Amino acid sequence: MDTITDPQPQEITKEDYRKVFGALPTGVTAITGRTEAGKPMGFVVGTFASLSLAPPLVTFCVDKSSSTWPTLRSLGRFTANILSTEQLPVSRALSRKGDEKFQGVAYTESALGTPRIDDSVAWIDCEVLSEVVAGDHYVIVGAVHAMEFGRGEALVFRGGKFGEYKEWPPPEPAPEGAAK
Ligand SMILES: Cc1cc2nc3c(=O)[nH]c(=O)nc-3n(C[C@H](O)[C@H](O)[C@H](O)COP(=O)(O)O)c2cc1C
Repeated sequence: MDTITDPQPQEITKEDYRKVFGALPTGVTAITGRTEAGKPMGFVVGTFASLSLAPPLVTFCVDKSSSTWPTLRSLGRFTANILSTEQLPVSRALSRKGDEKFQGVAYTESALGTPRIDDSVAWIDCEVLSEVVAGDHYVIVGAVHAMEFGRGEALVFRGGKFGEYKEWPPPEPAPEGAAK
């Protein structure tokens, strides 16, 4: 019988990690909430994902160094705004550090009181269900309170650049004379 040996884990550098995950496209989602005084706050994540259908749960990961997350956590609720290809300026504004990220960002209020950014692809209003510490991030699980479809096509992020989804293989062109 072959002897089973525990292989040594490869040493993973930050560069390796970034390069590998830079090859994997993600969506761009703004996580928004409010301060106790009602001021809108938020930040952008590429880690927002569906988690459970029944009950409906979602997840995202946030860096422990986030200055916004502690405020949203204490409120216990957030909206995940799936950003569209027309919302690059919103993505830029909310992925900056600072207190005035919402300047020029239009929004309405969800039933939970969280900001829903105008013209997003979809809004998912959530209550924070749990938070797990994982390395230098927190993994957040949200229980979906309400969700609504908006407009536009989802913005995509890959290798530090923004783009859009392209169907592959390309759709067959409609046969000539076919009804439009
Ligand atoms: C496309 C994109 C994806 C990002 N994904 C994440 C993420 O998943 N988790 C995270 O903590 N930060 C992510 N960031 C970085 C945060 O948006 C950024 O650090 C933000 O300024 C944090 O703000 P805060 O300190 O006010 O919370 C992402 C940024 C961009 C542009």
